[in-house]
Amino acid sequence: MIGVAKGRKVGITGLGVHVPERILDNDELATLVDTSDEWIMARTGIRERRIAAPEEALTDIARPAAIAALADAGVEAKDIDLLVCATVTPDMMFPTSSALLADELGAPDAAAYDLLAGCTGFVYAIAQAYGMVAAGLSERALVVGGDVLSKILDWTDRSTLVLFGDGAGAVVLEPVDHGGFLGFELGADGGGGEHLWLPASGSRRFDEPESFVKMNGREVFKFATRVMIYSAERLLEACGRTIEDVDVYVPHQANVRIIDYATKKLGFPKEKVVVNVDRYGNTSSGSIPLALADGAASGLIQPGSLVLMTGMGAGLTWGSALIEWTDEVRRQ
Ligand code: ACO
Repeated sequence: MIGVAKGRKVGITGLGVHVPERILDNDELATLVDTSDEWIMARTGIRERRIAAPEEALTDIARPAAIAALADAGVEAKDIDLLVCATVTPDMMFPTSSALLADELGAPDAAAYDLLAGCTGFVYAIAQAYGMVAAGLSERALVVGGDVLSKILDWTDRSTLVLFGDGAGAVVLEPVDHGGFLGFELGADGGGGEHLWLPASGSRRFDEPESFVKMNGREVFKFATRVMIYSAERLLEACGRTIEDVDVYVPHQANVRIIDYATKKLGFPKEKVVVNVDRYGNTSSGSIPLALADGAASGLIQPGSLVLMTGMGAGLTWGSALIEWTDEVRRQ
């Protein structure tokens, strides 16, 4: 799917993130499985990641991120009329984490649902919320992206354990006078779904003995390097923009080698690219909002900046969004 923004302008007017306190570095991981800081750094660029406490579930890390995003936008939870939560690790299948969050935040008028699109979930969710606000169905949407993948990892499997971490982010979407989203490109290839999957997580193969992330790293790597380029180029062309027009590139933070490949192939100078995978690992649906927050905190993302985000992950899925960072909000 590819779509260029038409109708009323919609932008991100608030952004907030949250990660668990506990830091797990590569040296500590090497005491759990047969690995080393050298191997992990060379293959992934990841130095450390955050790990949720045993009692912490998705909504526990998503709630502070959502509260921070609302405060950043200067809006109250009661004025949110749509809450989309992108995650593959909800507190439970139902009630949905979005419904729980709407209740905890105090957003009784919000339509609330969870969205499942692997690590691309956040990009899919902002595209949906954009569509609802642009069409006038929603006036003020809260989009949450977050995961606690540590809960669904096999802690004896070094090939997946070293890659992932926990974290969440949230954004508020509203009509704006200037800037806002220019377009989205989203895709899925279920034919490649077998390369990244979670056994015993639904109605098929329910009786698998273990429910841990299974991944064919080499195939996912090949897929990632292909779609990161394809999606970005296709979206920029549809929006009538070029790589040179983009001020900030925010790729999904899965692996520094994938980010470096995409950066080079697309032709971005390194100083335009947000990279924080070294500190957080792959936080799935939390990855892009965490990177947006770092980009904004460092001053790389400024009002008026043209920001390109591209995610990819389980499904297999991918998606890009192009946005002119908002500098003015229209409040009705
Ligand atoms: N420490 C030490 N050795 C390891 C580790 C580890 N943590 N993991 C694997 N190895 C070993 C393997 O056993 C293998 O040994 P062998 O040659 O004796 O068999 C060797 O290292 C090489 O393994 P490869 O899998 O070929 O290593 P590769 O260079 O492909 O790197 C990696 C593996 C990092 C997983 C890479 O394939 C990758 O990044 N893939 C993409 C993964 C990704 O981005 N996933 C997230 C998608 S987003 C989502 O939706 C969740």
